[in-house]
Amino acid sequence: MSIPLLFTPLTLRSLTLRNRVVLSPMCQYQAVEGRMQDWHYQHHSRFASGGLALGFVEATGVTRDGRITHGCTGIWEDAQVPALKRIVDLYHQYGAACGIQIGHAGRRASAERPWDGAAPIQRHDGPEPAWQRVGPSDVPERAGYPAPRALTESEIADLVEAFVAATGRALAAGFDVLEIHGAHGYLIHSFFSPISNRRTDAFGGTRDKRMHFPLLVAEAVRAAWPADKPLFYRTSSVDGVEGGVTVEDTVALAQALKARGIDLLDCSSGGMSGPATLSSAKITPGYQVPYAAAVRRQANLPTMAVGAILEPRQAEDILVAGDADLIAIGRQMIAEPHWLYRAALALGQPDPAAVLSKYYGFYLARRASVLDLADRP
Ligand SMILES: Cc1cc2nc3c(=O)[nH]c(=O)nc-3n(C[C@H](O)[C@H](O)[C@H](O)COP(=O)(O)O)c2cc1C
Repeated sequence: MSIPLLFTPLTLRSLTLRNRVVLSPMCQYQAVEGRMQDWHYQHHSRFASGGLALGFVEATGVTRDGRITHGCTGIWEDAQVPALKRIVDLYHQYGAACGIQIGHAGRRASAERPWDGAAPIQRHDGPEPAWQRVGPSDVPERAGYPAPRALTESEIADLVEAFVAATGRALAAGFDVLEIHGAHGYLIHSFFSPISNRRTDAFGGTRDKRMHFPLLVAEAVRAAWPADKPLFYRTSSVDGVEGGVTVEDTVALAQALKARGIDLLDCSSGGMSGPATLSSAKITPGYQVPYAAAVRRQANLPTMAVGAILEPRQAEDILVAGDADLIAIGRQMIAEPHWLYRAALALGQPDPAAVLSKYYGFYLARRASVLDLADRP
């Protein structure tokens, strides 16, 4: 029997991922001054021993003001590196690779945590006050929300440098993969989208000019990230808003990113209006897969599909159809950290328990050899 694609390795630059399943980046809002806490360690522990190929650390701010909330992780100072390294070591201990997503929240910074409503912080004093949002233009996220301050060209150059410095720290922490967060309405996406970018200088106007900042970041990060390590980029492949980013725009961006050494496009969507991770829009299984498929075919760039990928067969079919190279899973992994064990059973892998750490897998394999289900009630 042939091996399911889900369980075949993938090599990107010098990194060989042992299978195609990735933990999608998920903010935990539990950091203190950007530093990871025990919560993050237990969060990643749930997945690290579960057999996945690559686990991603959440959107991590390249500057203090680039965090979404006061609870977001940061990578703007060296003191944040040891706790990040602890997560990298955790994944490595179980044979998985570890990645980090770096970003800047832009006009969506200074927000409350999701369970507190995710709206802009209104307090101006106390322990967690509001701070100034920035963006390409002074267009607020939505009517009634604080307007971001439009960045000057020299501030833009400083932010590119902040991405470079963050890249150096990600390297020091030992990450295998770096992902630039170019999605969900945050700073990089807000430069690319005509909804939020109304500039008339080198950074706005035509699609090529709106790509300028994303490409500057990509080029600078690529130059600072070792040539043997893969660099991913997450897009909001469509804004889903009249006049916003379309798949055609994203394919053009993918081609430009590919020319600058980006190895894979992680195809998400949305965030230009409404909450990034709390959207109340109805979704269906695999709702974003067509974006990964379009980019993979039209830009000839490897892609990662994400979004309501729930079932092993569904994931396998995406790979078999040639719609994506990797499968990222977020919420279903929260529900089911050992999803890969179920996938190995469902797809007929000969030794399904072998995907897990032997400290768990040993017992499941042994049980499988003795369990007689004939008299099951
Ligand atoms: C709690 C939570 C936090 C998230 N944080 C991030 C993040 O840090 N960066 C990001 O790009 N997407 C983030 N997302 C989006 C997920 O990575 C993923 O793309 C989305 O949840 C769809 O996949 P799923 O249906 O498998 O959960 C987050 C989603 C959730 C539920």
